Formats: sequence, structure tokens, C-alpha cells
Amino acid sequence: MNPLALAASWLAAAGAGATPTVTLSTVGLDGYPSARTVLLSRFDGERFHFHTDARSRKAAELAALPRATVTLHQPEHTRQLVVTGDVAAVTAPEAAGAYAARTRYLQVLAWLNDHDLAALPTAERRTRWAAFEREHADGLEPPETWVGYALTPLRMLFWEGDTEGPSNRVAAVRDADGSWSTERWPG
Ligand SMILES: Cc1cc2nc3c(=O)[nH]c(=O)nc-3n(C[C@H](O)[C@H](O)[C@H](O)COP(=O)(O)O)c2cc1C
Repeated sequence: MNPLALAASWLAAAGAGATPTVTLSTVGLDGYPSARTVLLSRFDGERFHFHTDARSRKAAELAALPRATVTLHQPEHTRQLVVTGDVAAVTAPEAAGAYAARTRYLQVLAWLNDHDLAALPTAERRTRWAAFEREHADGLEPPETWVGYALTPLRMLFWEGDTEGPSNRVAAVRDADGSWSTERWPG
């Protein structure tokens, strides 16, 4: 079993062009887990890509310890995929490509969603949003704060429900030589 190929087939089952959401878990600067939802921008066959703001907590946490877990839940297929591994920043052209593929709303959000705006009343936040939209009616380039990361898996857990029997879970672990060992686990 090739876990990378299996992950690709599970993601493909969501439909072409779908951008799944995943729970991204990092290690908080205080040692507690730190989790949030992000869009899984891409799986390139080897690495799981996500994008964010370089000033975010997750960026600081990844700078301190570049390890994370991405959890994908596919309720329509009663599946869960949990991927843990090492994280590295992607190149600027890769990040720019992901920005170009984002909706206009998310492109604007990447420009505006900072601490100063967050602290303002809703009406003022909307006024600034509308002004930005008016002033940037043409296409947007990514802001300097736009950053992408790619997670290279070390461990992958494939969980699948079975209406006629116990759920199935397969754990895949990457060995030192790069090959994968797999085991069936309960749970
Ligand atoms: C459905 C959904 C998708 C999201 N996608 C992203 C994303 O792709 N990138 C991102 O930085 N934040 C995304 N967010 C916001 C994050 O969950 C989070 O609030 C934000 O990134 C700040 O996280 P941090 O303070 O832990 O760094 C998304 C939220 C939701 C609910």
C-alpha cells in the first residue's frame, strides 16, 4: 500500500476543484496544542500545502517548531485522514500561485485581516473593506504577509467506517529509508 497514493485518491473523491478544509494542529508556544481550520490548498503527491498570514500565531508556532498535524474529515465517505509531519515554507512563486487560485473575497481578506482592523467596530471594518475594494478593482497581488507551508508526512492514519462491521484504521509510518510500513489499528 502506498499511503501517498491512497491520500490522493481520498482527496480526489471530494470532487475535482474542491478545496477541502482541514484541522491544522501545531504545538503552541506554551506547549499546549494549537488547532484551527484551514483550507488544504493542494496535495502535490508528496506534501500537503496550506496558506496563511505570516503574522499569525500558527506562523510563529511553526517558526519555533516546524511540526504539525493535518486532520481531514470526509463525513460523506465516513473517512478521516490524520497526517503528521515536518513543515517547511513554500517558495514565493508557489505561494503566489495559491493566492491567485483563492476567491476574490479571500484575496481581500489576506490584505485586510490584521490586528488593527480586528479591533475596530463592525461598521468601520465594513467601510474600510468597501474602500479597499473600490481602490483595488483590478486584480490583486499577494500581500507581503501571505505565506505558504507544505507538510511532508511522517505518519498517516487512514480511518474508514463500515456500516456492517468495525471501523478500519491503517497506520502508515515512514521508515528511515523513505519506505512506508503499515499496520492495522483498532479505533
Ligand atoms: C472554513 C474555514 C477555512 C479557513 N481557512 C483558512 C486558511 O486557509 N488560512 C488561514 O490562515 N486561516 C483560515 N481560516 C481561519 C483560521 O481558522 C484561523 O482563525 C486563523 O488562521 C488564525 O489562526 P491562528 O491564530 O491559530 O494562527 C479558516 C477558517 C475557517 C472556519
